[in-house]
Amino acid sequence: MSDSTNDNDTNFVAQHGQWSSRWMFIMAATGSAVGLGNIWKFPYMAGKSGGGAFVIVYLICIALIGLPVLMAEISLGRRGRQSPINAMKNLIAEAKANKFWVAIGWSGMLAGFLILSYYSVIAGWALVYIFKTALGDFAGLPADQIQGQFAALVADPFQLIIWHSVFMLMVMIVLARGVERGLEVAVRYLMPALMALLVMLLYYAVTQADFQAGVDFLFVADFSQLTFGSFISAMGHAFFTLSLGMGAIMVYGAYLPKNINIISAAVPIVVADTLVAILAGLIIFPIVFANGLEPAAGPSLIFETLPIAFGQMPGGTFWGTIFFVLLVFAAWTSAISLVEPAIAWIVEKGWSRTVSVYAVGMLTWLFGLLTVFSFNDWAFEFEFAGLVKSNGFFDAIDILTSIIMLPIGGILIAIFCGWIMPRAAIKEELALSSSRVEKWWGVSVRYVAPIGVSIVMIYLILGN
Ligand code: PFF
Repeated sequence: MSDSTNDNDTNFVAQHGQWSSRWMFIMAATGSAVGLGNIWKFPYMAGKSGGGAFVIVYLICIALIGLPVLMAEISLGRRGRQSPINAMKNLIAEAKANKFWVAIGWSGMLAGFLILSYYSVIAGWALVYIFKTALGDFAGLPADQIQGQFAALVADPFQLIIWHSVFMLMVMIVLARGVERGLEVAVRYLMPALMALLVMLLYYAVTQADFQAGVDFLFVADFSQLTFGSFISAMGHAFFTLSLGMGAIMVYGAYLPKNINIISAAVPIVVADTLVAILAGLIIFPIVFANGLEPAAGPSLIFETLPIAFGQMPGGTFWGTIFFVLLVFAAWTSAISLVEPAIAWIVEKGWSRTVSVYAVGMLTWLFGLLTVFSFNDWAFEFEFAGLVKSNGFFDAIDILTSIIMLPIGGILIAIFCGWIMPRAAIKEELALSSSRVEKWWGVSVRYVAPIGVSIVMIYLILGN
């Protein structure tokens, strides 16, 4: 590497800081990946899309597209060494490429803002459920009354706004203090605790609920159930769950010290993220079937099923409260990464970090009101790729980001890495020791990911 690159590196570290170790990067990126997407969204999407066939498409997308694109995005971040927009500018200069590629940074910044606007409202539900569980609101209640409590919550915009505001404030406070201080520490303890609690809930699902029915639903694939809509949802979700295609992982990659090997950091992130999603499914569906609930309930699914388990199990008030606390933490560590690309960019423009955080936060909060009202006053139904959506703006923002912006961002990242970056540069970043792995990665980012996602997008445009 040239001397000037080394100088840039020193400046960058001075301005933004960097992860203290490979392990800290893995923890932070896993904190970004593991969130509402795994515990709330994955089960409800699988439930809506017929279970097994959706899960298989999702797993294939994670393995064939998710892992290689994750490695590509980390590499771009570390090579570009700035916020995604400026990192892309650096990389364009290095590769003497067209300016168009900065679009990766811009679209990522916008997607992060849009996702956080609804993410915060849902995280607000989880906040309410901490208190409801702690106060014993669910103890011994039948399923229909638990469902009724959820319906009452989302029907009340005032409550939703309060909790959305609380969550946004939590996100802004941490962001203002800098991601590494606090977050590094929190993530280190909270992610293992979340895993432990999931395993405990799994024990409940195995012993007290209809485990076999849950397993059959998740793993027995009836491909006749796989519609085009569920197929693209599964693909989009692979990007969403790994936080790919929008610069979050790129900016985390920028904070990764040069001497850390990328593949050995990427694999544990993918494994942990997938494990949490599957565990969540294995907990939720047995409870759904044991209580005669509807697997296709949609966004309300975990808020209707888990309280049943907590309402019945010994010590459920205690464990339930801890569970929702951890869910909020999982959402928190993801939420922070959603706007870090925007914050880093504004900081590079010379603004103070605090002012940038509160400016972005206020705007996101305001936009989040569209989601708040999607569940009550402004709810409307529409159809997308054969899927019936009933929560207006919320569903529309979700589709725009997960199904359109992230996959397109992801393929642009793959193409840039595979075709535009000088081979030597990418070789240096990835430092893959095995030529077989190098070949696999090259084929994935050059062909499999771009062609796979493009085919799906073309279908989508042509109206399938
Ligand atoms: N991966 C997060 C989840 O599964 O909840 C959501 C997310 C975070 C998406 C950060 C995108 C992102 F950049």
